[in-house]
Amino acid sequence: MKRRPIVAGNWKMNGTQEQAAAITRELLAHAVNPRVEVVLCPPFTALAAVGKLLGKSQILLGAQNVHWESKGAFTGEISAPILKDLGCRYAIVGHSERRQLFGETDAMVAKRLRAALANGLSGILCVGETLEQRKQGKTWAVVEAQLKAALDRVEPAAAQTQMVIAYEPVWAIGTGQNATAAQAQEVHEKIRNWLVQRFSRGAADGIRIQYGGSVKADNAAELMAQPDVDGALVGGASLEPKSFIAIVESTFQAKEAGCSTASS
Ligand code: PGA
Repeated sequence: MKRRPIVAGNWKMNGTQEQAAAITRELLAHAVNPRVEVVLCPPFTALAAVGKLLGKSQILLGAQNVHWESKGAFTGEISAPILKDLGCRYAIVGHSERRQLFGETDAMVAKRLRAALANGLSGILCVGETLEQRKQGKTWAVVEAQLKAALDRVEPAAAQTQMVIAYEPVWAIGTGQNATAAQAQEVHEKIRNWLVQRFSRGAADGIRIQYGGSVKADNAAELMAQPDVDGALVGGASLEPKSFIAIVESTFQAKEAGCSTASS
């Protein structure tokens, strides 16, 4: 099965409305390759401005987080219906910065993912190990536990059509030290096999698995050429339109070369 590659830009806590609009305009000025699904995840405060500019373009809007309740007394939180109202199609859940800096637990991540899916958003579920865990040989145990917890009560149909998994080794995020293509493929393949067991071969073959962690214009081609790497979740480089466009293009080239075909 050929999966449509997906490249998402996670702008993190960067960008006033004006700065966000400037990046968006520059991206829109380039014809984004329709063979790649492109998603922008600006800060909550810029979602409206970016969404308005994107309009009906090919580029989709995503949020960096989503709360599990729909509404109510949850100061500082943003719900899935609010995000939908702003035109969001995606929500990132379980980013390692949320887990590490803001104490998000697997249980919270699971609730966020379920809320996104229940409200018709697609979820980008982030998983990944720390350097310490990798050194201790615990990479797969950590990733598997995160997958298990987050997908505990997710239906196969929703997983297949509304979920993307982002493998983001914590040690590679914002460090300039990306995982090698072989390291990424090794974990991606294990994730795919785990999804076969959890759901089905068909579902697992349809679910896209992004790599994230210091993806740049100059390392994207090699990473994206791996058979189980279906795109990228890009932080720093997504704030530079030229780099982001180059990553999208590299992804397209790598996948057009026939590397994204998985036997179904
Ligand atoms: P980075 O961030 O590309 O800046 O390493 C990736 C991410 O946090 O999603």
